[in-house]
Amino acid sequence: MDIEIKSDCSEVDWKIVSDTLKNVGMGYHEPDLHKKAFENSYVTVFIYHDKRMIGFGRAISDGAYQAAIYDVAVNPDFQKKGLGNTILENIMVRLPECSIILYASPGKEGFYHKNGFRKMKTGMAHFINAEKMIEKGFTE
Ligand SMILES: CC(C)(COP(=O)(O)OP(=O)(O)OC[C@H]1O[C@@H](n2cnc3c(N)ncnc32)[C@H](O)[C@@H]1OP(=O)(O)O)[C@@H](O)C(=O)NCCC(=O)NCCS
Repeated sequence: MDIEIKSDCSEVDWKIVSDTLKNVGMGYHEPDLHKKAFENSYVTVFIYHDKRMIGFGRAISDGAYQAAIYDVAVNPDFQKKGLGNTILENIMVRLPECSIILYASPGKEGFYHKNGFRKMKTGMAHFINAEKMIEKGFTE
């Protein structure tokens, strides 16, 4: 499959980001809030097929030794074709000296495990929607 990998935020349709996150069951916001989050991130990756954005991801980082990955998603019509791996690789290659943390959606741990991530034993989170995150299985 022909794909184009971009890091530039300037051509992104942020409604597609919001709609895709909603469709795959991840947390989503108004398009402009995603625009702010991606534009303020250290690494952004967008995958296009036929000029249509079908996947994306981002990382925040100090640019030195710590980073965190967020909002990795592939349009359901294009999942299981290796694009998740492509997104992750393109993020990680730009964080060569960094330890990287993330929290996987429940059930998606295997995807990250295959890419070298391991479960954290002391991970702690202070979520804005604390009750919802308990309900969704992210926290105790
Ligand atoms: C998770 C997600 C990004 C994976 O994208 P994808 O394009 O389907 O993944 P790939 O085809 O690149 O698969 C990469 C590898 O991970 C494996 N994998 C994918 N999803 C998996 C899962 N839920 N459990 C275990 N392994 C999984 C694949 O089998 C593949 O293994 P291989 O390299 O040995 O063949 C995609 O399923 C998605 O967008 N899901 C909804 C959003 C989401 O949950 N994102 C993660 C947020 S933390």
